[in-house]
Amino acid sequence: MINKKPIGIFDSGFGGLTILKDIRTLLPEYDYLYLGDNARAPYGNRSFETVYQYTLESVKWLFSQGCELVILACNTASAKALRNIQQLDLPKIDSNKRVLGVIRPTSEIIGTFSKTGNLGIFATRGTVVSESYLIEIGKFFPDTSVSQVACPLFVPLIENNEHSSQGADYFVKKYIDQLLTQNPSTDTLLLACTHYPILKDKIKQFLPDYIRIVEQGPIVATSLKEYLNRHQWMNEQITKGGSLDIYTTDDPLDFDEKSALFMDTSIKSKHLDFHALSLQN
Ligand code: DGL
Repeated sequence: MINKKPIGIFDSGFGGLTILKDIRTLLPEYDYLYLGDNARAPYGNRSFETVYQYTLESVKWLFSQGCELVILACNTASAKALRNIQQLDLPKIDSNKRVLGVIRPTSEIIGTFSKTGNLGIFATRGTVVSESYLIEIGKFFPDTSVSQVACPLFVPLIENNEHSSQGADYFVKKYIDQLLTQNPSTDTLLLACTHYPILKDKIKQFLPDYIRIVEQGPIVATSLKEYLNRHQWMNEQITKGGSLDIYTTDDPLDFDEKSALFMDTSIKSKHLDFHALSLQN
C-alpha cells in the first residue's frame, strides 16, 4: 500500500460497494482502497456524535494508507459527519487532503429528473432526520417539493438476504404508501441509501409506473470524474494502477460472501481491527 495513493472509499459496511462498482466502471484506471466499518454498522440509527466519531476515525485511517482523496459513499456518514470533517478536522489534519460525500453531487442533479418538481426520498432514519437532502436540494432546486421517508427495515432485510421475499413486500408497500400520502404528485424517487439499489426490483413492483427511480452510483461516479478533471493537482497525485484493496472491520469471510449481493465481481477483503481505528491520534 505504501507507494500507492489510492482513492479512499468509505462506507459503514457493504452498501458503499454499490457506489464503488459504478465509480470503478467509469474510472477503472485509478487505485482504490475501500473500508467498510461492518463491526460498528449499521450507522443509520446512530447518533450524530457516534457517526461523526466513527467516520472521522475511518477517514484518518484511509489517509494513513496514502489516500489524498476520500469519498464517503455512505449517505448517513455524508449527512452527519462530512461537514464537520471538512470544516473542523481537515484544516488540522492536512489542508491538501479532500473528503467528499454523496449528498451534494446527488442534490445538484436530482431536480432534473423530475417533470413535476415533486421528489421523494427513501433513506435511513439518520439521513432523514439530518434534513441534509432538504437543505442541499433547496439550494439547487428551490421550487422543488421533497418528501422524505425513513426506511429503517430495508438494510436488515437486504443484509439478511430477505429483500426478494414476501416479507419484504410489507415494508416496501408501507414506505411507498407513506411517500404517496405525503405527496401523491411525486414523480421521482431517489434511493438515498447505498443498500437500496438491491431492493430496486421489489420497489418497482409496488411503485406506480409514472414514478421514476433514481440510483446514486452513476451520479456519484460522474461527479467524481468531473471533480478530478477540474482538480488536476489532485488527479495527478492519485496513482493509476487499477487496483482495489478492501478492508472490513468485521469478518472478511462474511464480508466476501455478502458482497456478492452488492458487486458482480468476487472480492477478497482483509481485516482491520476497529479498536486500532479508535486508537489513532
Ligand atoms: N451506508 C448507509 C447509508 O447509505 C446504510 C447502512 C447503514 O445504516 O449503516 O446510509
